[in-house]
Amino acid sequence: MNKIHVLPEDVSRKIAAGEVIERPVSVVKELVENSLDAGASAVRIELAEGGRRLIKVADDGSGMSREDAALCFRRHSTSKIASEADLERISTLGFRGEALASIAAVSRLTLRTFDGTGERGTVIEREGDRLVAVTDIAFPRGTAVEVRDLFFNLPARRKFLRSAQSELNVIAKYVTQAALASPGARFTLVHGARQVIDCPAVGTLRERVFQLFGKALVDRLMDVAAVDGGSRVEGLASLPLAGRGDRSVQHVFVNGRPVKDRVLSAALNQAYAGILEKGRQPEAFLFIGLPLEDVDVNVHPAKAEVRFKDSQVVFRTVLRAVSEGAARGHTIKEVYPVSEEGRSGRGVSERGGPAGAPGLGLDRAPDREAGRASPWAPADTGTAAAPGAGGDMYRRYVSPSSAAASVPAGEDPVVLGQYENMYIVAGSEEGLLVIDQHNAHERVLFEKYKEIDRQQAWPRQSLLIPALAELSPSQRVSFEENAALLEELGFRAEAMGGRSVALKEYPDIFGREAALEVFLGLIEEAGGAEAGERRDRMLATMACKSAVKAGQPLTREKMGYLVAELFKISRLGLCPHGRPVVVRIDRAQIDKGLKR
Ligand SMILES: Nc1ncnc2c1ncn2[C@@H]1O[C@H](COP(=O)(O)OP(=O)(O)OP(=O)(O)O)[C@@H](O)[C@H]1O
Ligand SMILES: [Mg+2]
Repeated sequence: MNKIHVLPEDVSRKIAAGEVIERPVSVVKELVENSLDAGASAVRIELAEGGRRLIKVADDGSGMSREDAALCFRRHSTSKIASEADLERISTLGFRGEALASIAAVSRLTLRTFDGTGERGTVIEREGDRLVAVTDIAFPRGTAVEVRDLFFNLPARRKFLRSAQSELNVIAKYVTQAALASPGARFTLVHGARQVIDCPAVGTLRERVFQLFGKALVDRLMDVAAVDGGSRVEGLASLPLAGRGDRSVQHVFVNGRPVKDRVLSAALNQAYAGILEKGRQPEAFLFIGLPLEDVDVNVHPAKAEVRFKDSQVVFRTVLRAVSEGAARGHTIKEVYPVSEEGRSGRGVSERGGPAGAPGLGLDRAPDREAGRASPWAPADTGTAAAPGAGGDMYRRYVSPSSAAASVPAGEDPVVLGQYENMYIVAGSEEGLLVIDQHNAHERVLFEKYKEIDRQQAWPRQSLLIPALAELSPSQRVSFEENAALLEELGFRAEAMGGRSVALKEYPDIFGREAALEVFLGLIEEAGGAEAGERRDRMLATMACKSAVKAGQPLTREKMGYLVAELFKISRLGLCPHGRPVVVRIDRAQIDKGLKR
């Protein structure tokens, strides 16, 4: 019997729509792109309930004629390309003629538009795939699209939408990116009665960054620029010795389109390798210009990725732009020597408040002879520890139970030394253990913090003079949503006017400056996490930020303390971020290798 049949039109249309429109931010993105393609100099976005109930995008762009307005909802109808050859040279943000058709298929939509010709504009009302009405309207030149009840006819999708605040958070992030890419246009984002973003048109990227992120960030940025053949990079990036504790402020645009790309991230990482302190990430706003035919934007349903004809050239140009900027010689310390004290986030290494609670971290472990750990058996490790000398010599403790079982209770492995300031080498009867000091400490702290959190027993340190920080629009949204949770985690803060927030109390496991940085990191983290896992992820971040770093010399006592604590945990296999903690070299393997 035959089993295959062609799906009914309305089903296949909904499937296609679902690929383009995943959640409210997809609608906002498509509509804003249309406004920018139409040459708008002002784009206003209004939302109700994080976009689930209403998304309205209004622009002062070219508008549409009555005929175009009728046609624009047809799948594959576009004014932006005409032939296959055009696909090779896409200069607009849209090109598929799919967005409005997709949005209309899964919502109740009203389009108002006027192109300035004739007497009156046009109103088109649609519901799902049904045309409800076409009427006249007196309307200024431009277009306004109202999308109500997104996914009203796709309940499965509607069910998976997140809270209004979470949806608003990602929308604020997207609008921030769009606003960065087009400083010459005004962007307004309004949620209910609240204005989340309002940035009037400005002349430069620097001014736009100032509008969105505040002065503190602008002051940490240098201009970067480089040209390599047809490839051009310009923008702003962290001054040497600046940067931040997370990657949340890295915006890269290719021919005006925001993209996420591994080549570009790698170039940025490499460029900053020697000029930021360890563990710090660059902030960057990079605009890459390429000949249209050298970049393929038609590779991702939501157009979030691009493919480069020659990614090496792009890599090189980014690298050069940053390196030359950095080589001009300024560092954040030279440029802003006085404000150093007040700036957030220099003090990653300066941990531990004055009145520390016992047993929280390594800082409270016995520490009489400071950091004089000797490298462990340097001559021997060269061969013995070389990975690849025999793949099965290295068995990972990825299975928690086997890890716990391999160390008899009460018989802690003995610390032999530290290797490369990164790994603790310990021995037990069963063989050698190589322990990642950062991951291990993170794991230990995570368990402790979970317990403290359960008991709501954070040792708190209050700030007589609150530490002020400027938040980006999406961080502000996330802060408002998570202020209560942050307070439970020991961070008490209050929103100030504008984009500022004042940190008044923090858990006494961080130093003052680190506390502010961790606080900002948590706000960022909370914005991206599902409600159910948010608390644990935030605790994991707190553990990560207060754990010893790779590269930090440790005394024998600290190592002993850490190993003992580690082996108290019954499920020690992975750090809270899922990375392995311990590698074991079995005694039997050693004996066999040495023909004992
Ligand atoms: N805000 C607007 N102002 C003027 N014209 C618009 C606007 N929005 C849409 N249009 C017109 O409607 C057409 C269809 O829009 P739609 O977003 O569906 O497709 P597209 O932008 O061409 O391609 P893509 O599917 O990649 O977005 C556009 O090509 C454009 O001509
Ligand atoms: Mg479009």
